[in-house]
Amino acid sequence: MNRHGRRVHPPGTRQGAKPDKAHKVHPAPSVDPEPATPNAQSPIRNRQSAIRNPQSAIRWVGGLDGRMELIDQTLLPGEFKVISCRTAEDVWDAIKVLRVRGAPAIGVAAAMGVVVAVQNVPDDEKAVLEAAARAADYLATSRPTAVNLFWALDRMRRTAERCRGSGGRAVKEALLAEATAIRDSDAAMCRAIGDHGQHLVKEGCGVLTHCNAGSLAAAEYGTALAPLYRAQELGRRFRVYVDETRPLLQGARLTMWELMRAGIDCTLICDNMAAAVMRQGKVDLVLVGADRIAANGDTANKIGTYGVAVLARHHGVPLYVAAPSSTFDLRLESGDEIPIEERGAEEVTHGFGRRTAPAGAKVYCPAFDVTPAELIAGIITERGLIQPVDRENIGRVLR
Ligand code: MRU
Repeated sequence: MNRHGRRVHPPGTRQGAKPDKAHKVHPAPSVDPEPATPNAQSPIRNRQSAIRNPQSAIRWVGGLDGRMELIDQTLLPGEFKVISCRTAEDVWDAIKVLRVRGAPAIGVAAAMGVVVAVQNVPDDEKAVLEAAARAADYLATSRPTAVNLFWALDRMRRTAERCRGSGGRAVKEALLAEATAIRDSDAAMCRAIGDHGQHLVKEGCGVLTHCNAGSLAAAEYGTALAPLYRAQELGRRFRVYVDETRPLLQGARLTMWELMRAGIDCTLICDNMAAAVMRQGKVDLVLVGADRIAANGDTANKIGTYGVAVLARHHGVPLYVAAPSSTFDLRLESGDEIPIEERGAEEVTHGFGRRTAPAGAKVYCPAFDVTPAELIAGIITERGLIQPVDRENIGRVLR
């Protein structure tokens, strides 16, 4: 039982939970006849891993003639729909409009997108290599900030080149194996992040998180939410404050959805309530994810993270970033060099369809901001905790 007398269950296994509307699958036109379902038997949840885990946002079904499936996150929490991506354009679009989002998940999606692009190309090696290279270049233009996208595409490019000379079919098979390996290693990294970070989540503590850095944003445990899932598995009780995360509400729509499904005590707050909640002494720890971390530890994450970090410092609350090694970009000296995506004005002026600003209003809509390393108490990686956050410690842990 948790402190509110509710029973705590392992993530994604809320026992006795009645199937509700949100648990139904609504097949999209391109969905296969047996779409993945989000119940306890769901292949999308557990087939590729023995770990008992929360929902996985993305998977490959079958072999080279199989398909890529992902949860359409733009529809959550109202509708749970698994869609198939049949072309590289489908994958590009899914990344661009945030059907799949979160740095590690974007990397997995892009890798699988390369497989999708070569799937139906004749087994001629030259044609397959060209299609793979073209798809990698194209998918790299979908979003600019999360470095996992470029990291995964580089792995796919290297795999294709390594197989040059072994025939078109072999290249395709190697690309599928690599995409699957990227997905599986992401799951393992998230699990390890949970192990390295769970001790920070003390019995009875209050945690604040921003955006969604959970199982929807990465394979299985997620990054910032992984220490919470592990602490819950270890029987600890704690409460989580979830920033709604303007303008696209990844906190309200996605983090609340997955934490509630996992039976974790979570409370939604508007972004502008975080200061008051901290001042009231309700937050002992801030946990956030990352889209790109420079060599000096400066960290790009969802817009609003920097503000939360400033507030946390003012209130003496430690802020930890949780991210796999694939999120570090050691070629960049500092956060000043991280490309920050700007998104369309309508995301601010038309919150989910309804106009909330006068027509013609001038809008600035950066999707990410950079939190300077000095405001970060530590970075939890799959290789251990980086603390204090500086160039030397980053090099030592990631070496
Ligand atoms: O625009 P989004 O939803 O892709 O932004 C996601 C974030 O900023 C996450 O916090 C980050 O990618 C870490 S995900 C494990």
